[in-house]
Amino acid sequence: MNRAEAEKNIARLREEIRKHDRLYYEEAAPVVTDREYDRLYKDLVDLETQFPDLLTADSPTQRVGGQPLTAFAQIRHRAPMLSLDNTYSEEELANFYKRITRLLPDEKIPVVIEPKVDGVAVSVMYENGRLKYAATRGDGVVGDDITQNIKTIRSVPQQLRGDAPDVFEVRGEAYLDKAGFEKLNQDRKAAGLPLFANPRNAAAGSLKHLDPKAVAKRPLGIVFYGTGAVEGADVDLHSKVFRLFKKLGLPTHEHWWAAESVEEILSAIRKLDEIRGNFPYQTDGAVIKVDEFAQRERLGFTAKAPRWAIAYKYAAERVETRLQDIMIQVGRTGILTPVAALDPVLVSGSTVARATLHNEDEIKRKDIRIADTVVIEKAGEVIPAVVEVVKSKRPRDTKPFDFAKHVHGKCPVCGGPIRRDPEFVAWRCENLYCPAQTTRRVEFFAARGALDIESIGGIVADKLVERGLVREPLDLFDLRAEQLAKLNLGSEEAPRVFGEKNATKAINAIERARTLPLSRWLFALAIPDVGKTTATELARFHDTVEDVADSELLREVLYYHEKRGDKEVAREIAERLIKSGFAKPSQSKAGKDGIVTEVGPVVAQSVLDFFRSPSGRKILRRLNELGIKPKSEKVSAKKAAELPLAGKTFVLTGTLPSMTREEATEKIEALGGHVTGSVSKKTDYVLAGAEPGSKFDKAKELGVKIIDEAEFRKMT
Ligand code: IVH
Repeated sequence: MNRAEAEKNIARLREEIRKHDRLYYEEAAPVVTDREYDRLYKDLVDLETQFPDLLTADSPTQRVGGQPLTAFAQIRHRAPMLSLDNTYSEEELANFYKRITRLLPDEKIPVVIEPKVDGVAVSVMYENGRLKYAATRGDGVVGDDITQNIKTIRSVPQQLRGDAPDVFEVRGEAYLDKAGFEKLNQDRKAAGLPLFANPRNAAAGSLKHLDPKAVAKRPLGIVFYGTGAVEGADVDLHSKVFRLFKKLGLPTHEHWWAAESVEEILSAIRKLDEIRGNFPYQTDGAVIKVDEFAQRERLGFTAKAPRWAIAYKYAAERVETRLQDIMIQVGRTGILTPVAALDPVLVSGSTVARATLHNEDEIKRKDIRIADTVVIEKAGEVIPAVVEVVKSKRPRDTKPFDFAKHVHGKCPVCGGPIRRDPEFVAWRCENLYCPAQTTRRVEFFAARGALDIESIGGIVADKLVERGLVREPLDLFDLRAEQLAKLNLGSEEAPRVFGEKNATKAINAIERARTLPLSRWLFALAIPDVGKTTATELARFHDTVEDVADSELLREVLYYHEKRGDKEVAREIAERLIKSGFAKPSQSKAGKDGIVTEVGPVVAQSVLDFFRSPSGRKILRRLNELGIKPKSEKVSAKKAAELPLAGKTFVLTGTLPSMTREEATEKIEALGGHVTGSVSKKTDYVLAGAEPGSKFDKAKELGVKIIDEAEFRKMT
């Protein structure tokens, strides 16, 4: 590969990885398996190693994890939370041990092998034995304050037993056990809510829930596997940590192995593989760690991970079954997704009858045909994937799968026209009023993170569209409580009406949505390529939906890319974009003189196209008619200084009686103040609710003013 090709590939891989990071960390809805993600990541690392001058500081390989969500207060970890290097091969595992033996020659290097729990990394701080706070990993340095949520996990002690160290920062993996996960998804299905793809997403979603009461209902557990900052205890061996945890009442691994050679390590990971199916939680591998802390210190770290540990991931379980048929689902943006209907088989403890086939190209590439015997793989995911076809078992009369022919050239739901969208390697239903699309769009519109209209889930959306009460998301604003109350969510034979109470609740939530900020609206409108992060960026730089629809900045981004060849013109546009704050000079050597814009040309084009299309124009018109004018989070410097909370710093702790943390943060920020994660002398106010955490004590200690919700409301 030459340099130009490498550059192109690197850019593509980075963009793709960032997209998956966002889906995984921020939206808790990944679309690829871990293995596929790891493969992309590895390809990028390889290319960056081969072409070191193309490595930039903003590459995903240079970060530890995802961005923390803005809705939670932030906590700085005392000791950073690092990630682990991963491998799927025994050979690389052997190399790991050889490498450390080379780094510490003539020494015995005992290691510990323990399960890799497939959950969410958390850090819990105990001071003098009392639980002070808990945080997610976030970017490894700063994480979300999830103290209230962690406190709902019964197995996490509030007070350590016996003689506890003065400072004890413990790291572990929070999980939703297998049985709890099945039940949660059953309940969600019944309530018409979207299902979690796997227990890990469910655990992540639970921990990031802003309402601790809702979290308390989820059967979360935790396994502690290590320490961060420790003061007042002498921990010198990892193998002693397990015992110490047990003594202090912290849940930890029941099974672990000690080894001093490659053979012993391999034997341990095989033993673990034999028994891990019986664990109540999902595991996806083994972690191999040097036992002696003194040796760890000498081995040190690379930029991202310690040299003294490695994760070995087990291959996902694969089984063969017959592909009965290929069904086509229609998504929110009209994309037709092929799904395999399979002869049911048992994989990793659950029966599988469906598998995703991604898109037409994927079917072609793997030459998947109806009636084929296929290999399916389940890697901790609930929706498995078809890996390959067993060609030797192919019946004689099969034909290559022809997507367009299979659906008779039209949308299988509404019979509307379909078109192949080259951008998405997918077929798309072009009928904007296709019920399948409308339903998904309404569901998305009302979902958490969008307009948060809790009572409108999948089933309700389905029925509203089916009964013709809603033809597009904005029709929700025309609904009357009486109509909703009568809505039958069941069948003719077994009716189940929505009811008055629910209807009133839904109408109130719909009304509340009118006043949500611009970022939430931009996200809710389901503009192709606009996720939460992009919506927030756009809202920071525009005042209204109309401003975004006809954005000068977005047009400039396109103009810049069009004129890149013309140095003079490009520089002028670049300067304007930099001045507006919408672009930064590029840091990479390759992009010398270039700029990095807040959103790229693909997104810019997509946003402008969306609002120029008939449906986009209709949305603008309808918003106007409905009198909905979402306000931007953008404020000019002059106006900002005049806001009531201008320049004031707040810290939130505890549960407020009538607002979530997200709402309180939004309010403070809208009024010119800002919210930080920890109390210092510079903090102006600590806004405290029920069961406040360590920040309350800290505020008292520093003499920072503590206010409750009532006092806060008076200020605003
Ligand atoms: S040790 C510096 N041990 O895997 C070492 N991690 O890929 C830090 N994980 O972020 C991690 N089980 O969330 C360690 N027994 C275990 C683990 C474990 C699961 C997770 C953890 C970590 C990720 C790294």
